[in-house]
Amino acid sequence: MHSLDLPEGADRHVIYSELLASLRALVADEPDLIANLANIVAVLKEALPGASWVGFYRQIGADLVLGPFQGKLACTRIGPGQGVCGAAAARRVTVLVPDVAAFPGHIACDSASRSEIVVPVVRRGEVVAVLDLDSEALAHFDALDAEQLGHVAALAAELAW
Ligand code: SME
Repeated sequence: MHSLDLPEGADRHVIYSELLASLRALVADEPDLIANLANIVAVLKEALPGASWVGFYRQIGADLVLGPFQGKLACTRIGPGQGVCGAAAARRVTVLVPDVAAFPGHIACDSASRSEIVVPVVRRGEVVAVLDLDSEALAHFDALDAEQLGHVAALAAELAW
């Protein structure tokens, strides 16, 4: 097993660097996609305590379908272009939402969610999933999260989809 061993109050650059190293080691010997996605969200949730919900939605046909996650019960299926997740998948870009109330079409799975970031997982030019993180704090996620979670999505894209 691999676990994060971070000093109290560690700098976020350090957290992400440790987290990525941990994730690379974690998925290296396991071929099963769902097992790996499940452990990726577990590591993210543990390392990023300000995130109230962390999970993947997989692109299955036209819809994004709920995959491994940690957090409260969530909507199971998101139609094309719907919500923040659908927007990130359709545009193939990371969508950073500092205030979900100001995002037209935001899907409120959890009424306590205040900010969100969604990162597309692009494999061989196709969106295979999105990585979604919610927070109960306004403007919780920033450009560093967008950059570093992009590395996590790139790692996820290399799995056995
Ligand atoms: N808020 C998302 C839906 C998924 S939940 O946050 C877990 C959206 O607008 O796409």
